[in-house]
Amino acid sequence: LTIEWDIEAAEKGGYPHFALKEIHEQPEALRRALLGRIQDGQLHLSELDALRQSGALDSIQRIIIIACGTSYHAGLLAKYAIEKWARIPVETITASEFRYCDPIIGPETLCVAVTQSGETLDTLVGIRQAREHGAPVIAITNVVASAITRLSDAVLYLQAGPEICVVATKTFVTSVATLYLLGLYLGQLRGHIAQEQVSELLTAMERLPDQIQHILDHADSSDDELQSLAKRMAKVSSMMFIGRGVGFPTALEGALKLKEISYIHAEGFPAGELKHGSIALLDPDTPLFAIATTSHIYEKVVSNIQEVRARDAQVLVVATEGDEKIKQHADHVLYVPDTQEILSPLLASIPLQLFAYYVAVARGCNVDQPRNLAKSVTVE
Ligand code: G6P
Repeated sequence: LTIEWDIEAAEKGGYPHFALKEIHEQPEALRRALLGRIQDGQLHLSELDALRQSGALDSIQRIIIIACGTSYHAGLLAKYAIEKWARIPVETITASEFRYCDPIIGPETLCVAVTQSGETLDTLVGIRQAREHGAPVIAITNVVASAITRLSDAVLYLQAGPEICVVATKTFVTSVATLYLLGLYLGQLRGHIAQEQVSELLTAMERLPDQIQHILDHADSSDDELQSLAKRMAKVSSMMFIGRGVGFPTALEGALKLKEISYIHAEGFPAGELKHGSIALLDPDTPLFAIATTSHIYEKVVSNIQEVRARDAQVLVVATEGDEKIKQHADHVLYVPDTQEILSPLLASIPLQLFAYYVAVARGCNVDQPRNLAKSVTVE
């Protein structure tokens, strides 16, 4: 008896692609990212102890988050969380722009670099510049002892496990979670957030891995639903993604995932900005994905969806379980469990990843190694 096998197939653990395997590893990756950092409703980020004791965090007036690609989207989400919990102004900037914009930065500016690979040249050069100006630097990365860690005052590892697929999935979810923990840490340090609220948020975060598992299980048991939607959408040449608040960076990430692996032109917009130009692109052949999970601006997103439907564009929606009303405004609804609004991107991004994956498969694309892309970009 001989058994045909190869190392790569073994590494994929029964999945046809690393992308799908890593999407399914997200509950475990997120559990690991939170491991040891949440204990009995309390937050522990011992990696920041030395920086805290040095006093460098006491005088922080503002925060600059430097990142590229998917990590940049995680950084955009962190702006909402850090500003809400710590009341410190946050600017999230693409590393390649930061480098050449003569940034106003000094010891009172905390610089946070987000890079799953830890090797992205634009980000490395950006933080080198920040250090030259005396700014304390915290790195958020998945790769132990990567270049970024040697240029930083403190490192928060994602603990997501290896990510082989070029496009980031589990490192996105763990980057957002780690940045949120940093936001809570700074909020506590500043005394802007009550312990009770911290405990509630941490409890909600601890629930996320099971909630992601629930989304994945549902997608697996109704594979045909997502796959037949993806097959229909595989023929379009352009798609739009919209969201408001934390739904906006989620829309950007949904569009990036689709572009990267399916080569369909996709753009993300703040839902309220659509009418200021981009709505001109909508027609029956340009579907739109709306992030309409429960939020304080849910009704505003629904009215943006109505504007889109008036242009006869097909509307796909990510909504919160139990929201039956949204069906009257959508051609297709993908549901995610309920959570706190600020945490909703960690759930809403999962169906968007699966959608991009199945569209790419339907188009016969090289999912794990898309053309022109690399896992870490060490050139300018
Ligand atoms: C490359 C990858 C993207 C990634 C970006 C930033 O362009 O193809 O998927 O988001 O780099 O990578 P980093 O390692 O810095 O997070």
